[in-house]
Amino acid sequence: MKRRHLFFSLGMAASFAVSLIAGCGNPQSSGAGQEGARTLTAVTSADYPPFEFFETADGQGEPVGFDIDLANYIADELGYELTIVDMDFNGIIPALQSGRADFAIAGMTVTEERLQSVDFSDPYHEIVNALVVQKDSGITGFEDLDGQRVGVQLGSTQEKVAQNQLEKFPGMTIDSRNRVNEIIQEIKAGNMAAGVVALSVAQGFINNNPDLDIVTIPDQESLSVAMAFPKDSELVSEFNQVLAEMQQNGTMDELTKKWFEDYYANQTDAEG
Ligand code: ARG
Repeated sequence: MKRRHLFFSLGMAASFAVSLIAGCGNPQSSGAGQEGARTLTAVTSADYPPFEFFETADGQGEPVGFDIDLANYIADELGYELTIVDMDFNGIIPALQSGRADFAIAGMTVTEERLQSVDFSDPYHEIVNALVVQKDSGITGFEDLDGQRVGVQLGSTQEKVAQNQLEKFPGMTIDSRNRVNEIIQEIKAGNMAAGVVALSVAQGFINNNPDLDIVTIPDQESLSVAMAFPKDSELVSEFNQVLAEMQQNGTMDELTKKWFEDYYANQTDAEG
């Protein structure tokens, strides 16, 4: 009896093992030619409304915004699972270079300098810069910032814009911070006279902070915003294809309206 019992269990174990192996094998063989959803990791700096931001002040939950919708749409079209990781803007290019991320979407401007270390998709948006100041500050431009503290995001093109003003206004102190939110808080607290950010982002911030105001900067060329990839990434052409589709099928317009509506409303006011 005992032996028989043992034999039986061995047999069961054996068939169980066979089914395990078969079970393991199946998804692999059926997956040939149609791999399961591959995962991409994107990095962003979720301090840049309406491009990417947290809806709650404590930065909990998932980032939302124009870039986030755009990244999710493209990943979905191409059959990728997407994980979006929030980090300081200054860490984004190193993350791409070290292979810790597949791409970056962060309201990022294409520059010659960045092209030395990363590849960019086709541009999907245009920006100009502006100053964020306290309401009724009397500040009308950089000329009023000599002797004042000006906040910029570390590693951003706005940091360069401010540095270029030093020639004319050497008394300006440039204060580079990891997060745009810090700059906004310092302006509200009166510790910084101004911050330099994209005009559409300034609009995003003043919508939620009625004690702040925007000062436009004259005579600027608009700057192209694109997604960044590790050098020679094969994703660039796939992403460009979906970007082109989105321009054609109206999705890009839809997303732009959804996230920049206030910005456009304001422009119309200014023109009218
Ligand atoms: N457009 C600027 C740049 O490319 C600033 C972008 C900042 N983006 C952000 N998500 N904080 O340098």
